[in-house]
Amino acid sequence: MAFEVIVLPGEGIGPEVTAEAVRVLDWFAAHRGLDVNLRLESHGTAAHAKHGQVIADSVFADLLSADAVLFGATGGPAFDELPEAARKAGGLLRMRRHMEVFANIRPIVACPELADATSLKADVVDGVDMVIVRELNGGIYFGEPRGLERLDDETERGVNTLVYETPEIERIARFAFELARARGGHVHSVDKSNVLETHKLWRKVVSRVGAEDYADVPLSHIIVDNCAMQIIREPKQFDVILADNMFGDILSDLAGAIVGSLGMLPSASLSAPDAAGRRRALYEPVHGSAPDIAGRGIANPIGAMLSVGLALHHSFGRGDDAKLLARAVRRTLGAGIRTPDIRAPNAKAVSTKGMGDAVLRELTRLNGG
Ligand code: IPM
Ligand code: MG
Repeated sequence: MAFEVIVLPGEGIGPEVTAEAVRVLDWFAAHRGLDVNLRLESHGTAAHAKHGQVIADSVFADLLSADAVLFGATGGPAFDELPEAARKAGGLLRMRRHMEVFANIRPIVACPELADATSLKADVVDGVDMVIVRELNGGIYFGEPRGLERLDDETERGVNTLVYETPEIERIARFAFELARARGGHVHSVDKSNVLETHKLWRKVVSRVGAEDYADVPLSHIIVDNCAMQIIREPKQFDVILADNMFGDILSDLAGAIVGSLGMLPSASLSAPDAAGRRRALYEPVHGSAPDIAGRGIANPIGAMLSVGLALHHSFGRGDDAKLLARAVRRTLGAGIRTPDIRAPNAKAVSTKGMGDAVLRELTRLNGG
């Protein structure tokens, strides 16, 4: 049976980078026997013009049965002009909640080939191999009460609520411990428990789950501000970083500095497994829609292409193919092929499609021509 994949390129640079991700999927279909059915659908202003919604109802419903959803990017000036109700109803955050993909994985693997593209020292960065596990369905992104209200002529009031309940913390903690165990690694759980009650609970629950069921997996707790500093100072100390929705968002951009560009980072968001062991899955590059460079064909597609790598691993049961793709990307970078965001000083840069071409060439070469 073919895997059903819904592709939502979205907006800004989303369509450009997703086109290259789709070429990667097509390559694995043509050369490695991957059986996938791609269904391309619009998300954002284009969909709104057509259906009056940022994602058509039928597509939104089918996100639940797809084997994988490939998402490009969302947001930008035109999107921000859409009616708020429409933006909220079909927005990325709503999709993540609807699919119940509570576990967001953001691997940060240093790429020695890009040593010249990072602002950090090579010996700090070399050998970094960590994963940020970000809780994606709760916390301050979704907490109630929330809103903006006008108090008087001069004064408005904005409210958001940072709230977690025990089961939400438990399931993401278990996910992080399982991952660390499989990697033979350890967990750093991030919180602000010196100030926030929600994070006192976070720390308590993570400790309990660790002690009860994962005594073999070393666990440390780290306060978020210190964690931010340590990620830049000595990133090699980290293996699995477990963070709530907002801290995971911030720390993953920060960790992008280790690799050299946010354009390099992929992500996978997974639900709990169903009875057959299948997880719903949403794959997206960590970067946003980058409206300033959209449509110019200069965006880095590697984050989107490596998101396909995560799909090969987590949704299609093809760990070896995921490794093949990672090797092809590294060899491409090693050959000096760069988009502008990671270009070496004075070197020429390739286009988004040029990068896609180069990675596919390496894939073909590695696969024996
Ligand atoms: C991310 C992005 C999103 C987030 C935005 C686009 C809503 O920054 O995936 O990291 O904050 O989750
Ligand atoms: Mg972010």
